[in-house]
Amino acid sequence: MKKTPKAACVIDLPKIADHRGNLTFIEGNRHIPFLIQRVYYLYDVPAGAMRGGHAHKKLQQFIIAASGSFTVVVDDGRKRKKFFLNRPHYGLFIPQMVWRELENFSSGSICVVLASEVYEESDYYRSYKRFLRALK
Ligand code: TYD
Repeated sequence: MKKTPKAACVIDLPKIADHRGNLTFIEGNRHIPFLIQRVYYLYDVPAGAMRGGHAHKKLQQFIIAASGSFTVVVDDGRKRKKFFLNRPHYGLFIPQMVWRELENFSSGSICVVLASEVYEESDYYRSYKRFLRALK
């Protein structure tokens, strides 16, 4: 991966099709534009629940629907855009300073998140107002 995208975008991943089942892999700084420092996943999300609802100062993320489906709403302070994720062979790259909300999780869905940083609460904007103010 040569350049880091400036906006949230879908990135297709390699897929090795096989009659025994498909295989997808991700290498940091190759298939996604950062080195992976942390992996976490959301699961058993109840119907109607919303996750996310924050932006990051520095952290970049790559979100995959490993199973099932959900919608990611991204907002860079100027435009809102919706991405529907429902296959494990692509994901959504989200750069720093983008507000995100995850919603409409299908029953049994698993949302895998690859992150460029370890967990640090001080990297979060959890208030939309404060996020907008920081963009100015
Ligand atoms: P949060 O990032 O708000 O979840 P999401 O954005 O997916 O809705 O995190 C929820 C809680 O989990 C919060 O108290 C912080 C904690 N947490 C960690 O301790 N480590 C982590 O890597 C993550 C992602 C969250």
